[in-house]
Amino acid sequence: MTGASSKPWGGRYSAETAREVDQFTASLPFDQRLYREDIAGSMAHARMLARQGIITDEECQSLLAGLAGILAEIEAGVFPWRLELEDVHMNIETRLREKIGPTGGKLHTARSRNDQVALDMHLYVRAQVDGLLEELRQLQATLADLAEQYIDAILPGYTHLQRAQPVSLAHHFLAYFFMLQRDRERLADARRRVDMLPLGAGALAGTTFAVDPAAVARELGFERRYANSMDAVSDRDYLVETLSALALVAAHLSRLGEELVLWSTSEFGFLEMSDAYTTGSSIMPQKKNPVIGELLRGKTGRVYGSLLGLLTVLKGLPLAYNTDLQEDKEGTFDAWDTVRACVRIATGALQTSRWRTDRMLAASGQDYMLATDLADYLATKGIPFREAHAAVGAVVARAHGAGASLAEIPLDELRQICPAFGDEVYELLTPEAAVARRNSPMGTAPAAVREQLALADRLVGQAPGTIAWVPVE
Ligand code: ARG
Repeated sequence: MTGASSKPWGGRYSAETAREVDQFTASLPFDQRLYREDIAGSMAHARMLARQGIITDEECQSLLAGLAGILAEIEAGVFPWRLELEDVHMNIETRLREKIGPTGGKLHTARSRNDQVALDMHLYVRAQVDGLLEELRQLQATLADLAEQYIDAILPGYTHLQRAQPVSLAHHFLAYFFMLQRDRERLADARRRVDMLPLGAGALAGTTFAVDPAAVARELGFERRYANSMDAVSDRDYLVETLSALALVAAHLSRLGEELVLWSTSEFGFLEMSDAYTTGSSIMPQKKNPVIGELLRGKTGRVYGSLLGLLTVLKGLPLAYNTDLQEDKEGTFDAWDTVRACVRIATGALQTSRWRTDRMLAASGQDYMLATDLADYLATKGIPFREAHAAVGAVVARAHGAGASLAEIPLDELRQICPAFGDEVYELLTPEAAVARRNSPMGTAPAAVREQLALADRLVGQAPGTIAWVPVE
């Protein structure tokens, strides 16, 4: 500390950093939240330095005690954060020297902020992945419970947002269940590349000290360490991968959100969200707005933004560490906060909503949604499906012209269009029959849905950490 600068790195400096520069370059306002990871990483590093004989046991004990004291100060809200110390790392190290004296200056032996911050982010994201995996599992459990409850409820299934064919409400819930299952698989897979230790890389080239990264990896519970120090300090691919997995979670939740909005309209009326999960209008007293659904939809934008932002930061960066990489944090933190909140709120919204199965069923008998069943019927009589399709199209046109439903067209008129029509055709023309007859694998018949549900129950019942797809059949 001989230079005119008060910075830990100020030795060669003859002037203080401009205040404006401190403000522009500091990451402290957003990397403060890494304090737990930073301290855990420093403690593991200090123990390794002692085991390797790089510092004495006594020095190690003093570093550990100092770091524990700092953790307590931060958690008690009395830690003196200083913006001019740039980031969480230098704040903690500076405080350590204040608390335990010059020995504190030994902590940074054989380490750089470049491998230190990489370690902190790996630890942080690993914990986030584990938290989200459990939250997703709970959302899935909620969807499976709803599916169990509504296996016999029928609603219109849509394509092009036009009524297409009736489906079981359980089937609809389970569609989301399996999207989220793949999200969990994706996160669990990306976690393998989060679960790597970068510490020991030094600034970029390794270190002149006899460090033992394998031992640090074991202590911090990492599966493996990076093989190459320049890679370890300069890539952020594990953040991109996890952000990309988050982007897909957000995409899936945005679709659910859109359906919450749509189904809450008077036009659909399939759903009444609870008072606790809706908000009102400041002018229109009658309003009950599905804001949760709107925000599940809307918050997707910032998650995609974070992914795109980080990909853009990485593009064309020369090796190894560059300060550009400091820009990895805000988007990453925001995406994790956002997606985890969305998953939790979606769970609550689903658990507290009232599903208007009466309205769903009423909507399922309309609009010629059973036309495919008629075409399938003719096809089973040996008529090529394409011809059957045309014949039923003519039936629909006739019914439409007469303002009638399919079941209201008398048999002789059906036979004029296609002689293969028989009396039993009318039995097909209920939503219940249409659902029950789609008993193919993946289908919407109660038995086929029960099979999906059994798989879903096995998937949510798996021990934490085992996210394996159970093969069907
Ligand atoms: N605050 C920095 C970051 O978030 C820590 C690493 C800085 N390293 C350096 N040599 N300036 O990336």
